[in-house]
Amino acid sequence: MQPQVKPLNPNFSSGPCSKRPGYSLDQLDVSTLGRSHRSAIGKAALQRACEDTAELLGLPAGYRVGVVPGSDTGAVEMAMWSLLGQRGVDILQWESFGNGWLSDATKELKLTVNAHNGEYGLLPDLTKVNFDNDVIFTWNGTTSGVKVPNGDWIPADRKGLTICDATSAVFAMEMPWEKLDVITFSWQKVLGGEGAHGMLILSPRAVERLETYKPSWPMPKLFRMTSGGKVTEGLFKGETINTPSMLAVADYLDALDWVRAIGGVKETIARSNANLAVLEKFVAANDWISFLPQVPETRSNTSVCFVLKATEDQVKAMIKLLDKAGVAYDIGAYRDAPAGLRIWCGATVEASDLEALLPWLTWAYQEATKG
Ligand SMILES: Cc1ncc(COP(=O)(O)O)c(C=O)c1O
Repeated sequence: MQPQVKPLNPNFSSGPCSKRPGYSLDQLDVSTLGRSHRSAIGKAALQRACEDTAELLGLPAGYRVGVVPGSDTGAVEMAMWSLLGQRGVDILQWESFGNGWLSDATKELKLTVNAHNGEYGLLPDLTKVNFDNDVIFTWNGTTSGVKVPNGDWIPADRKGLTICDATSAVFAMEMPWEKLDVITFSWQKVLGGEGAHGMLILSPRAVERLETYKPSWPMPKLFRMTSGGKVTEGLFKGETINTPSMLAVADYLDALDWVRAIGGVKETIARSNANLAVLEKFVAANDWISFLPQVPETRSNTSVCFVLKATEDQVKAMIKLLDKAGVAYDIGAYRDAPAGLRIWCGATVEASDLEALLPWLTWAYQEATKG
């Protein structure tokens, strides 16, 4: 029997992710629109984006936060192009995005890299990483739903820098900031913001590298973070390299205000954990669905990935049925990942919507696999 009650919000995409509960365009402060991003009002909005991010996340003193072009990808590549090459590089990859950074380092920057590979569903061996080298890894592999469990494997006295693509983790998971020298994320993930711009967070050690090392390769203007051997401080005070979307900035500020209003990052983490718990209960009660991550401590609480007892075509049919019924959009596994479902559980998703989705998952599975 087709269930009756639908999720109030069927948006379970892993990016751009659902807007926050209660979101409405007319609540945005659009006083900056049509103005120069370098006007006092424009710069103040961009500066607030940096400062409020640092404050809400509880970043250590001395960590810099900047708004950069090109979303999370822009932020990661800016860091790679600006910092790598001084010492060896270790890269951990266990799904599509980490694999992309490995490809950037080896095929574009032509670096010799120690690659630590993990299959979909598993992490590579974290004990094998050489922290005398610079180390690049994703905190949460969005396409496999596998995250690193914590930062205990990262030594405090490392010689290299840690460059962490944390786009599906920041505001959803506890982050050991002192263990991370570069942290990147995009607005379109856990906070349900817009694409276009990325956040680049640098530790004092990362800044020191910028000021003492100049890569041998050409540096596009979009990646330049220093001038005359000194870090461009304005970049971390709202003076963006080029023109940002002030509408996307207004949207991000709205998201940050929401985080503050609900109780801060503790609460956004709690919401993601509660969302994952809804799905864990469902998996425990149904033998046709299981988590793609094989180790519970590595199970993401944002991009939650599943494999099903079904053929690829049956999974596709199921996703189509759910989409057509208007109960779940964009929940198919990433194109390079094993066939299955990926249901976003970040802070902007309501647990009640996930609860309402569960009977529909059962219904769609039965429909897609019968006969
Ligand atoms: C781990 C990870 N890295 C990078 C990206 C790319 O992000 P963006 O499209 O914001 O550049 C994504 C997007 O899903 C991601 O999940």
